[in-house]
Amino acid sequence: MSFDRRIKIAPSILSADFADFGREIQAIEAQGADWVHVDVMDGHFVPNLTFGPPAVAAFRRHVGTVMDVHLMIAPVDLYIQAFADAGADIITAHIEAGPHIHRTLQAIRATGKKAGVALNPGTPADAVAHLLDLADLVCVMTVNPGFGGQKFIDMTDKVRRLRQMIGDRPVHIEIDGGVDPTTAPMLAAAGADVLVAGSAVFRGGSVANPTTYGDNIAAIRRAAESALA
Ligand code: DX5
Ligand code: ZN
Repeated sequence: MSFDRRIKIAPSILSADFADFGREIQAIEAQGADWVHVDVMDGHFVPNLTFGPPAVAAFRRHVGTVMDVHLMIAPVDLYIQAFADAGADIITAHIEAGPHIHRTLQAIRATGKKAGVALNPGTPADAVAHLLDLADLVCVMTVNPGFGGQKFIDMTDKVRRLRQMIGDRPVHIEIDGGVDPTTAPMLAAAGADVLVAGSAVFRGGSVANPTTYGDNIAAIRRAAESALA
């Protein structure tokens, strides 16, 4: 089966109601989310603290699509098995989280899950030159990680370079941070196929008013796909 490089929208539940994750996840999936992006933060690698494996296991009971777990933690290797056991489909580690990213990706794949590698804005595309046969996804951060709702940092050139490096390998390019209908087209045109969006999806909606989530997701998707037409 050929690799699916169609545009996928992955809402980040960092922007969801922290008192209602189950219904928020159900709402975004009912409103068109392709993946659910779960931001794990340890208060050490990034200046924020979110949730760990027990919470992710609880989210899993509500995720019917793909649970895309973004580990903003260091060290990371100690926790890979716990997030795999919690039900992650994709486990993404930051290349900056330690000295042995090659071994980390091997360890993620050894759990049977898909492996992602994330690059902070200051890390060049070429840093993954020797990882493209070990990774199923490269996540390009377009904010400095730690919070939702931050200002977009343009990494279009990095995305273009990555797309060139990946060639026909079955590797997704995911964009994470400040994605909205304005930034989506240039990112899609540069070669990204997975667009993470937190504030641009959850803004103005709620579990009581979920169609706003659907409108927001559709607007990002339409903007991205318009750049590919
Ligand atoms: C930031 C997280 C992102 C963030 C995206 O560290 O990795 O996934 O939640 O939120 P927005 O789309 O609001 O920038
Ligand atoms: Zn993220």
